[in-house]
Amino acid sequence: MTKKRVAVLVSGGGTNLQALIDYEKNNNANYEIVLVISNNKDAYALQRAKQNNIETAVISKKDLQITQEEWEEKIINKLEEKSIELIVLAGFMSILSKNFTSKYPNRIVNVHPALIPSFCGKGYYGLKVHEEVLKAGVKVTGATVHFVNEIPDGGKIIAQKAVEVKENDTPETLQKRVMEEAEWKILPESVNEICKQLKNKLKKVR
Ligand code: GAR
Repeated sequence: MTKKRVAVLVSGGGTNLQALIDYEKNNNANYEIVLVISNNKDAYALQRAKQNNIETAVISKKDLQITQEEWEEKIINKLEEKSIELIVLAGFMSILSKNFTSKYPNRIVNVHPALIPSFCGKGYYGLKVHEEVLKAGVKVTGATVHFVNEIPDGGKIIAQKAVEVKENDTPETLQKRVMEEAEWKILPESVNEICKQLKNKLKKVR
């Protein structure tokens, strides 16, 4: 059975993209990353894609000076052009409107660096999440993989993994531990499992 065609949307360093690439290489994965879209032309994630011969596209609302609707239209066109079956948001720092998310029910996955429903929603992204975790003084945090709907970080939860907060943590040390112990594991595993289920669905129909 053919692998499911995955697009990864990124904005920054792309360590989660790297984890997805490595998993695909080292396992008989049910998915194939065929497209990486960045909303930031300087994202290092783009280099990671190129090093692995994955097609890239930069679609920046700011650079193109277009509306949210026009921007999303461009992304949709690219996804359709490449016959994408699952969209993965991996450190993608823009919010997608209902117009976009409703086109892809259960076909968009996001990784969030905290245990949803804590430390999530509008304004909670990247290091900011870990700063708030430390401010709150919680002893356990983690990461969540979930489906994306119109509510930021509000879609159905697919996987979560807890990570210990340590006494001397800074936002940076905590971010690194959450990535290493949780995000880089549960994101590729979840994507692989969803693609396996998508493959099996097809089999049943036939
Ligand atoms: C990751 O920690 C990811 O969970 C987070 O940004 C970081 C991106 O790192 N995403 C969000 O906060 C989205 N709400 P990466 O570019 O190295 O994968």
